[in-house]
Amino acid sequence: MAEIKLTTVTFKGTAQQEAELRKVLAEIKASEHPSVMTALQRAQGIYGYLPIEVQTIIADEMGVSLEEVFGVATFYSQFTLNPKGQYAFGVCLGTACYVKGSGDIVAKLQECLDLKDGETSADGKYSIASTRCVGCCGLAPVMTVNDEVYGRLTVKDVPGIVAKYRAMQ
Ligand code: FES
Repeated sequence: MAEIKLTTVTFKGTAQQEAELRKVLAEIKASEHPSVMTALQRAQGIYGYLPIEVQTIIADEMGVSLEEVFGVATFYSQFTLNPKGQYAFGVCLGTACYVKGSGDIVAKLQECLDLKDGETSADGKYSIASTRCVGCCGLAPVMTVNDEVYGRLTVKDVPGIVAKYRAMQ
């Protein structure tokens, strides 16, 4: 099993988000088929990711162990345990991009940012997430940074793109 590295970014959930989460969890518990999966989906919709603090609330409210919640959260790729960075780098590993070398692109990106796939930097500025097809296969291999799309990339392009975002601060 791959190592799961949790973020060191401080949790900044608001009282309003927690109130919304507890309301949603009450609805799920009152439903015909309460499920941790649904709770995690709704929680991720509220917070954008699933920090341990949020998983703990889900476990308490749903009456299950934190281990069970963590197990579901880490099993399904739709869930993310880390917040996106201010500059969220995504590298498409869909088939068209993969055959054109996106594996090498993500490796170079990890080297440039000193992060692994799925991680966020401690200052919250940068994150890397490999993605499935983003619908720009004609531009393969493709990388995205927030809403920007970079296509027909080579490994040599990666340091320059990273430098651009480092310069933005
Ligand atoms: S496979 Fe990468 S954009 Fe479609």
